[in-house]
Amino acid sequence: MELVLLGPPGSGKGTQAKRLCQRFDVPHVSTGDLFRMHLGQSTELGQLAKTYMDQGTLVPDDVTEAMVKDRLEQADAVAGFVLDGFPRNLAQGQHLTLMLSEMDRRLKAVLYFKVSLATVMDRITGRRTCSQCGALYHLRTHPPKVSELCDVCGGALVQRADDSEATVKTRMAVYDHETAPLVDFYTKQGLLHTIDAELPVDSVTERLEERLVKARD
Ligand code: AP5
Repeated sequence: MELVLLGPPGSGKGTQAKRLCQRFDVPHVSTGDLFRMHLGQSTELGQLAKTYMDQGTLVPDDVTEAMVKDRLEQADAVAGFVLDGFPRNLAQGQHLTLMLSEMDRRLKAVLYFKVSLATVMDRITGRRTCSQCGALYHLRTHPPKVSELCDVCGGALVQRADDSEATVKTRMAVYDHETAPLVDFYTKQGLLHTIDAELPVDSVTERLEERLVKARD
């Protein structure tokens, strides 16, 4: 179960990664969440990442790759992992192949979340995240039961700092320029499975699980 979730900002990667990880009992390795964790702990890496995240640009490859390697070498990732937000450019994609082969492993599938720009803008502007447990909400499609409070732990819901309109525009441009070429990269390797990410959350999960069964056969 070595998986990559690939898709534009706001396409639903984090939402589905949490479900897949629960279902298959593997860790969710989100580079965005790891950077935000470092930022919350005021580490040097967190401070460095912040300068890039605030602008919507990519944190340098060497820093990101070292962080991912460290995470994938932890004991809970031996049975597999769901990578969310990595790789994000061709250099990271090539580095991941090398990193896994040095660990005598390889990717089983890359799940590509295909979605329109209008949908991602709506999802990002409506997104709220629990400041304590990280649970995800959307003001219209998945609102909390009590306004501004997390259903799971009661924590305050916040809007991510990089979800401002200006930063989202940069993130989308970075995606088109840097990340979208990975679709071709993984198609050529026979690993890419395209998912209609416009569908409601439960339908996307069903389709992902169907694809994973096929990828395993
Ligand atoms: P990161 O945190 O990875 O952000 P992202 O890729 O831009 O993705 P998002 O978290 O915005 O969206 P998502 O696809 O997970 O959608 P979600 O499930 O939340 O990266 C942030 C920054 O960190 C980058 O800009 C960069 O600076 C840095 N970084 C990260 N990785 C890096 C790397 N590898 N290299 C260098 N720098 C890196 O869903 C969004 C909303 O939609 C939610 O409200 C959800 O409830 C709702 N929703 C989800 N699915 C559906 C659905 N099917 N129907 C209706 N609503 C839905």
